[in-house]
Amino acid sequence: DWTMAEFRKTKIDEIREQVGDKRVICGLSGGVDSAVAAVLIHEAIGDQLTCVFVDHGLMRMGEAEQVVSLFRGHYNIPLVHVDASTLFLKGLEGETDPEKKRKFIGKTFIDVFEDEAKKIGGAEFLAQGTLYPDVIESVSFTGGPSVTIKSHHNVGGLPERMDMKLVEPLRELFKDEVRELGRELGLPDVFVGRHPFPGPGLAIRIPGEVSRERCDILRKADAIYLEEIRNAGLYDAIWQAFAVLLPVKTVGVMGDGRTYDSVCGLRAVTSTDGMTADIYPFDAAFLSRVATRIINEVKGINRVVYDYTSKPPGTIEWE
Ligand code: XMP
Repeated sequence: DWTMAEFRKTKIDEIREQVGDKRVICGLSGGVDSAVAAVLIHEAIGDQLTCVFVDHGLMRMGEAEQVVSLFRGHYNIPLVHVDASTLFLKGLEGETDPEKKRKFIGKTFIDVFEDEAKKIGGAEFLAQGTLYPDVIESVSFTGGPSVTIKSHHNVGGLPERMDMKLVEPLRELFKDEVRELGRELGLPDVFVGRHPFPGPGLAIRIPGEVSRERCDILRKADAIYLEEIRNAGLYDAIWQAFAVLLPVKTVGVMGDGRTYDSVCGLRAVTSTDGMTADIYPFDAAFLSRVATRIINEVKGINRVVYDYTSKPPGTIEWE
């Protein structure tokens, strides 16, 4: 019989064994997984760990600030905050293929990490919050032929030439177990309860070409949607909810004028591990309140649709 307290002890021993007196660099994504991995590794090896938060410009509203304040303020874990948004957004220019977007982001992450590792005098290990479902889904799809659905950027997107060795203490865990471990490690409840957020960030929620301007539009719509979900007391009943900005413009009418703007898709699903999912059945009044607010408050969006696709046959993210 196996408890999180035991898991914590075992992993701490394993991490110490694997790493010895070498330095470890850990990429924080803003999500729960990388945060839990970082806190666990910090407990094991203290200041041999440096965390790097690469702001790729593809974060949600306020996310970068929250991560930095949690790590610097609450844990006092050494944290390097790199604003790499121009590098990422420039590199994504003109790219519309989902896998190429993912691979570019994964590769660029590693480039930035390696640069930062050099700056702190070299790190032999790279820590990541890879979970069990990430490992499986990058390899094959259960029940079908072995085919890559998506290259999760913390698994399949890693370039083979990478110099650092990986430390991935959460590789056997599912999401609910990571949350339990997070609580065990004393992470604040609001942080532990956060919805998952993919490494490639908003880039995979903007089908087609990504730009800073489109990220800004999506951030505003997404923040309104999540604020309404929180106000309705639904946040914890939902596995993941987010807005998507479609590369489609439609005609609308506002006041006495014609509009010609983008479509925003809303997604919300329930799930236990992200491998299968059902749509969240909001009531119509809730959805129309969110749609009205987004169209009134976000310049660039004039139509909102709700995604009714379960997984399978859909995936949770749109790319
Ligand atoms: P899909 O879209 O494959 O997503 O149904 C399943 C779960 O995985 C998250 N996701 C990712 N997480 N790196 C991550 O860390 C990634 O590249 C990535 N892609 C998808 C997704 O948000 C959902 O929770």
